[in-house]
Parts: sequence; structure tokens; C-alpha cells
Amino acid sequence: MGNRLIITIDGPAGAGKSTVAARLAERLGVAYLDTGAMYRAVTLVAMEKNVPLDDNTALARIAEQSVIDVTFEEGQSRIRLDGREVTDEIRSPLVTEQAHYPAGAAEVREQLVRRQREIGRRLGSLVTEGRDQGTVVFPEARFKFYIDASPECRARRRKQQLREQGVEISYEEVRAAQRQRDQRDTNRQVGPLKPAEDAIIVDTSEMTLEEVVEKLYQIVSECM
Ligand code: DC
Repeated sequence: MGNRLIITIDGPAGAGKSTVAARLAERLGVAYLDTGAMYRAVTLVAMEKNVPLDDNTALARIAEQSVIDVTFEEGQSRIRLDGREVTDEIRSPLVTEQAHYPAGAAEVREQLVRRQREIGRRLGSLVTEGRDQGTVVFPEARFKFYIDASPECRARRRKQQLREQGVEISYEEVRAAQRQRDQRDTNRQVGPLKPAEDAIIVDTSEMTLEEVVEKLYQIVSECM
């Protein structure tokens, strides 16, 4: 693959984006960038250092000063924070619940968007996943996908994912937390969740993740 190939995958939580992005990247032989992990890493540092989560200036300083290393190894995203492995820690329900603070701070987004573009420049080709990848970070991307699914389906998947992590939460609780996250993601002033005008929208409610990967792979390989 001589030319630069940037593929963006955006969409709400629980639509299956991460798994699809990682598998698509593997199949295409390019890197996968999990941008949500960067917002989660900033959240984790703030929580550990007892930095008030509504102090945007302090959060931006964390984003600027922390070494957040997001790599793709053996089909998995791995996150190191100042050299420390935090891949699992940043997925905790507490971090998940608080991550909207840095995500809603314009100063933090500015820092992380800059880093994401740097990573894009360095790697050349990648599948990058988040909320604003096609709209803000890589508007020039060759392929933009917006992965969606019904709220019920996303809540079911999330519940299953939590169970696999050993966390038992009722469907109703998962659904309520998701509703709140959706609202925050779509209504924030900076980098809100929305499909790019030229995004291909894929509803995965009735599809297995393998089918979604196959569909995206077909679209990409047909148009190359
Ligand atoms: O995709 P995720 O659940 O790992 O995202 C974690 C948080 O970061 C969530 O609150 C949404 C936010 N996020 C964002 O605002 N922009 C991105 N590009 C990726 C994630």
C-alpha cells in the first residue's frame, strides 16, 4: 500500500467500533488508533492526582504533559501512560463514567487532536476510531465510516462486555448510563459526535461484528 490510507470510524459507545476498527486495521495491515483511550488516560491521571475534573486548565496541562503511548500490538490496543501499562485500568467503570469531563474541555481536545494528527502523519496509514475523527481530526480521510446501532442493542452489547470484565450491572442501569453518555457526546460544543457529511453510515444492530468488518473491508478494497 504505497499511498496514505486513512480510515476514520466514528459512532456512539457500544456500536462495536473498537472491535471493528481493530480487526479492519489488522486485515488491511495498517495501525489502529484508539482515540478514546487518550481521553480515558487523561481522566485516569486527573483522578489519581485528585485534580478537579471540572478544572479545564488543569486537565489540559495533564494532556500536554503526560506521555500517552497508544500502540497496536497483536491485534490489541495497548496504552502506556508515562511508561506505565494502563490498558485495563482505563476501561474501569469509574473512568468510563468520568471521561466526559476531559472530552468536553476544548483545551484538552485541542491537545489530543494535535497528537492524533501527529500520529497520523508519522504512521501514514491507519484506522482511527473515536467521535470526531472524520469531522475534525482527519477531514481529508479517504474513507469515513459512522458505525451505529439501536440504543437497545448497544446497551445489550455493553452489558455483555462488562460481564466479560467481571462487572455485573443491570440492563436498565447500563441503558441509563448510555443515554447520558450519548447526550453528552452529541451535545458538547467541541468535537461533538456526528457523522461527517461524506461518511458511510453502517447500522450494525442486525449484524455480527465479523459481518461489519467484512462489509467495511469490501468497501475499502473495492475503491482502492
Ligand atoms: O470510545 P471510548 O468509550 O473509549 O471514549 C471515552 C470517552 O472519550 C467518551 O467520553 C467519549 C470521548 N471521546 C471523544 O470525545 N472523542 C474521541 N475521539 C474519542 C472518545
